Amino acid sequence: MKILVFTEKPFAPAAVKAIQNVIDAAGADMKLVERGTRQDLLDAVKDVDGLIIRSDVVDAEVINHAPNLKVIVRAGAGYDNVDLQAATNHGICVMNTPGQNSNAVAELVFGMIVMMCRNKYNGTSGSELKGKSLGIYAFGQVGRNVARIAAGFGMDIKALDVFVPDEVMIQQGVTPVHDVKELFSQNDFVSLHIPATPETKNSIGYELVVSMPKNGVLVNTARKEVIDEEGLLKALEERPDLRYVSDIKPANAEEFEKKFAERVFFTPKKMGAQTAEANFNAGVAAAEQAIAYLRDGWNKYQVNK
Ligand code: 3PG
Repeated sequence: MKILVFTEKPFAPAAVKAIQNVIDAAGADMKLVERGTRQDLLDAVKDVDGLIIRSDVVDAEVINHAPNLKVIVRAGAGYDNVDLQAATNHGICVMNTPGQNSNAVAELVFGMIVMMCRNKYNGTSGSELKGKSLGIYAFGQVGRNVARIAAGFGMDIKALDVFVPDEVMIQQGVTPVHDVKELFSQNDFVSLHIPATPETKNSIGYELVVSMPKNGVLVNTARKEVIDEEGLLKALEERPDLRYVSDIKPANAEEFEKKFAERVFFTPKKMGAQTAEANFNAGVAAAEQAIAYLRDGWNKYQVNK
């Protein structure tokens, strides 16, 4: 049994060691490729039974290069980087590791919000979170962690998620919202946690952003694809009070930074899940899940059923 751990963005060393221990204990072999190129991935998948990745793209070409591959585990939440149809066509099980890195992403939401509200720590007078309203768009694992932390800041918390019953939100002290326009127009901060799907791509644009209250802040730790960048640019141009912070650089980041220097912030590389703890949790879960599938057909978190 051979398992390839391929991460363009490496896990913390302690996480790699823990993954190695799980794979060793199962009597399997681990192949590790860090900071690899696409060609490295094509070469490395040739003889493996299992593949553990992060945001690394696994498309039909990669799958065609992996005749022995039986399981792909995305160590993390979003699996928009994996061609599910191609995997299904080859009888490959694709899983994610829900919840394992969600606290890390949620903490970054507040790291970026506080930084923006304190004017990027430039010495000028900023604003506080206490008493402000926060709209959480999608109440999954990250959204729920965001709500938990927001409560500590004393925020008024609302959330929209058509897949989550109102009671689940109410139990956590969150007011359910059923209309995306209301979520944007009624909240000082809106934090995006929707996955990138054909339905959500380009769905956050001019109309929604421009409807935000004065001094609104839009936070994106989801995917850059969910943003209609032209629409966002237009909204920021029209409303000099609005701000945008994102864990993913927009395609035209330079234009945003040139036009709105103090009002935008982008991490240089997706960093939400880039903590030692999240790496450890997601990496170990991925290794355990890959082994469990290869050994016993365990597929609790399969996403291409
Ligand atoms: C996820 O979907 O789990 C996050 O976006 C983290 O992605 P990463 O593993 O590439 O940091």
